[in-house]
Amino acid sequence: METQILVTGGTGYIGSHTVVELIQAGYDPIILDNFSNSKRSVLEQIKKLTGKEPKLIEGDIRNEKVLDRVFQENKIEAVINFAGRKAVGESQVNPLLYFSINVEGSIVLLRKMKEYGIKRFVFSSSATVYGDPGYDCFTESTPLSPINNYGESKWMVEEVLRRLVQAEPDWKVAILRYFNPVGAHESGLIGEDPSGIPANLMPFVSQVAVGKREKLRIFGNDYPTRDGTGARDYIHVVDLALGHIAALEALNKNDGLITVNLGTGNNTTVLELVHAFEKASDKQIPYEIVERRPGDVAAYYTDPTLAKTLLNWEAQRDINKMCEDTWRWQQMNPQGYPED
Ligand code: WQD
Repeated sequence: METQILVTGGTGYIGSHTVVELIQAGYDPIILDNFSNSKRSVLEQIKKLTGKEPKLIEGDIRNEKVLDRVFQENKIEAVINFAGRKAVGESQVNPLLYFSINVEGSIVLLRKMKEYGIKRFVFSSSATVYGDPGYDCFTESTPLSPINNYGESKWMVEEVLRRLVQAEPDWKVAILRYFNPVGAHESGLIGEDPSGIPANLMPFVSQVAVGKREKLRIFGNDYPTRDGTGARDYIHVVDLALGHIAALEALNKNDGLITVNLGTGNNTTVLELVHAFEKASDKQIPYEIVERRPGDVAAYYTDPTLAKTLLNWEAQRDINKMCEDTWRWQQMNPQGYPED
């Protein structure tokens, strides 16, 4: 019997890529999703890619009855929790939504896991918990000082996990702090499909290239970086997915809690990414320099040493591959996934 892994938010961007890699690594992923930020049609794409349509239970991670069904109907051995909201701007205008889904949801899920004796948990955290420490290279011991409600919600769940493992050392927990996930599976069958106007750079650039958006607005070119535009540690979503498999396997080896940054250790400015995308797509990306976006920091990227040491994992794909794979997905799916 294949090891069953519950993947909450498994039809979302990072969730769906992780489900594909779980299947290919021989696991049996069970998806729990309420489709609040994803489409059902991703399931048939996963089937096309892997030959297997993962079992799906529709519902919200805050719903105890739904969780009872998940844990009673399956033999779940570990949980990867992607379910949550992740837009910084939205979190500033709707904090209750963010603390309810991201924090309350994780607590309800953990409590149910404990009730069913399941104590292996991989948590989708974010580099946003570091805020703006005043330097660019973050390690896992960089002080935590989130500066928006989204980052606060991730920090709160991390705190719950740190205290849970202190009180109950038989839990096996991996906190994974993502840098900037971009790209798509190289088949072009699954990818990032933001609803409405993309807040993030890569999907916006990709929609300009495919003609869905007129031009890119670059938020400031007076930052202390190579060319004045913001620099980030972009990580290919497939590398990120493989990092979750590596974390699951690391949990087999040790009790307690590990916290790992998942990034490449490199950084790319906005203008460098635009040029890389123009090369990958052979399209011009018109842009206009506008004022800085409130809350943005100049640059951040990770020191990837601990991920290599603890997970024996490191990112393999570079910014050109990230742009090529994004472009292939965008060309094959100019309007994103078909509406359900
Ligand atoms: C990247 C760079 C912008 C859009 C966010 C979240 C973070 C994580 C990843 C969840 C910056 C510039 C962007 C545009 C631009 N999400 N930019 N024009 O802000 O680094 O991180 O997404 O975990 O939590 O905060 O990513 O892609 O929005 O911005 O100039 O239209 O691109 O100023 O320098 P960010 P981003």
